Amino acid sequence: MTLSPQWLDELRSRITLSTLIGRHVKVQRAGREYKACCPFHNEKTPSFTINDDKGFYHCFGCGAHGDAIRFLTDHQGLGFMDAVKELAAEAGMGVPAPDPRAARQAEARATLHDVCQAAQDWFVAQLGSAAGEEARAYLRNRGLTAETIARFGIGFAPDSRTGIKSALGHLDEELLIEAGLLIKVDDKAPYDRFRGRIMIPIRDPRGRVIAFGGRILGAGEPKYLNSPDTPLFDKGRTLYNLHLAAPASRQSGRVVVVEGYMDVIALAQAGFGECVAPLGTALTEHQIERLWKMVDRPLLCFDGDNAGQKAAMRAATRALPLLKPGLSLGFVSLPGGQDPDDLVRASGPQAFAACLDQATGLLDHLWSHELAAQPLTSPEARAGFKARLNAHADTIADGDIKALYRREIGQRFSDLFFAARAPSPARP
Ligand code: UTP
Ligand code: MN
Repeated sequence: MTLSPQWLDELRSRITLSTLIGRHVKVQRAGREYKACCPFHNEKTPSFTINDDKGFYHCFGCGAHGDAIRFLTDHQGLGFMDAVKELAAEAGMGVPAPDPRAARQAEARATLHDVCQAAQDWFVAQLGSAAGEEARAYLRNRGLTAETIARFGIGFAPDSRTGIKSALGHLDEELLIEAGLLIKVDDKAPYDRFRGRIMIPIRDPRGRVIAFGGRILGAGEPKYLNSPDTPLFDKGRTLYNLHLAAPASRQSGRVVVVEGYMDVIALAQAGFGECVAPLGTALTEHQIERLWKMVDRPLLCFDGDNAGQKAAMRAATRALPLLKPGLSLGFVSLPGGQDPDDLVRASGPQAFAACLDQATGLLDHLWSHELAAQPLTSPEARAGFKARLNAHADTIADGDIKALYRREIGQRFSDLFFAARAPSPARP
């Protein structure tokens, strides 16, 4: 069996160690780490720490120390390969088969990082070159400073089918295709995927470039073109800007999920570094769990249009089955159909801060959504409204939270339709 160090590294980086260990002992957040009573020796006060960023645990009491694999072998008594298989299944990775070709593929996976970084360097250089003039003007018009552009590593892909292809011609073409930088159709010559676009690098939690989002200059379709899923890039498990937002969230105690790359970037420039965005898809369970690793109540700030409201509702219904005591979601709405980028540019950071302060809770969000869904003019319609809310509550797996939701829904329902009623006028 050949598991390359790179493959094992990737496996570790996809596993959240505190979640894994949290299935066996109660873990508590303590600053940037987690602590727990040591699962390897008997103790009453916690001296066991877990660092998700590094992927290691350490016990100051008994000296137990290791990574996710070590935890499963030493604590669960699994063999090394069984531990690896279990973790790989959780991480959505295939375990390389024990043959030389698979070993070469594992090796290739490591070098995909290098390919992405080489592409990143080239896109940044293009933005700074004569070819990047229109792109620089576009970014300036959007109000981005040179510092922001550098901080987010924004670059430019010139409008050519052979730009990156020749610039990275010294690298294996198969790798460029696998990294999603070149498109190959049938037997035709591969060509650049990103042409005439502002390039936004997407990074993993450690800050390594794994994919790109490309925005067209001005009008055109599609507005954003993203890298396809690759061995490095799994859209449903990635949050844009997580590597910068995680440390920022420790300062502010907040994490804000917005819809677009440009929202994240504009908000960071306005002083809100703790923002992330999904990659143009609905928020997944994996992403919600990841957000809860940072704060107990991530704030969702989706656009006020229909699509944004639908996305917020989907996130709400995805979160319900996952709720645990103390964990929830907050919902932020912005005035006048603006997105966060529009808002901070038009009204400044304090306007956005004020919106964050008025975030509503998960139950409030469900309530107002269902309330607005249909006119409640008949008893049947009101019963339907109550039934829809209870159906949401029934998807909650945690028994206590489910019961509390049902009680609160019942209470609010009576308050709305009965308690506040004026007494009916006396009949003559
Ligand atoms: P938006 O269109 O709301 O992005 O799409 P935005 O940030 O406001 O765009 P600007 O301000 O016009 O530049 C939100 C997100 O949806 C995905 C992207 O991830 C984008 O950031 N998206 C959008 C796509 O993947 N493809 C598209 O064509 C459009
Ligand atoms: Mn926008």
